[in-house]
Amino acid sequence: MSRRRFLEVTFWSITGVTTVGVLSAAARFLTGNALEPKTTSWVQIGTLVELAPGSVHQVNYALKAKDAWRDVEDKGALYAFSVDGTSYTVLDGTCTHLGCIVQWDAGADQFACHCHAATFSRDGAVVSGPPPRPLRTLETKIEEGALWARI
Ligand code: FES
Repeated sequence: MSRRRFLEVTFWSITGVTTVGVLSAAARFLTGNALEPKTTSWVQIGTLVELAPGSVHQVNYALKAKDAWRDVEDKGALYAFSVDGTSYTVLDGTCTHLGCIVQWDAGADQFACHCHAATFSRDGAVVSGPPPRPLRTLETKIEEGALWARI
């Protein structure tokens, strides 16, 4: 092998390995942990005695969660209501626009997000304002007289 050929092979080998390393790091940076499976947790909303039918009940939660390598606290608000006390609807109180927590306005019978003047109906549908989607409806279960929601 000539000296010139040896230098060409060495140069392109190092360039190739470096390019693969830089592209891998860039891809990992751009995707973050979006490709990792999202973990969910069941949160106890309250007992059925506490969650009287006909009213909207707000429950604040705080969970320890893992975000890549960091331990973070996941906080939020949930809203639970029932018509008959046998099945419940639980909505995530995080506005789908930019993530503010919505507030229940019993007088207007709707949720209000004061960040950008949005409103949602009782079932979470967008009534007015910039949110692109309805409030997220959570999976629920009733166990031993208590309502649970999967967040
Ligand atoms: Fe709720 Fe903008 S964050 S309307």
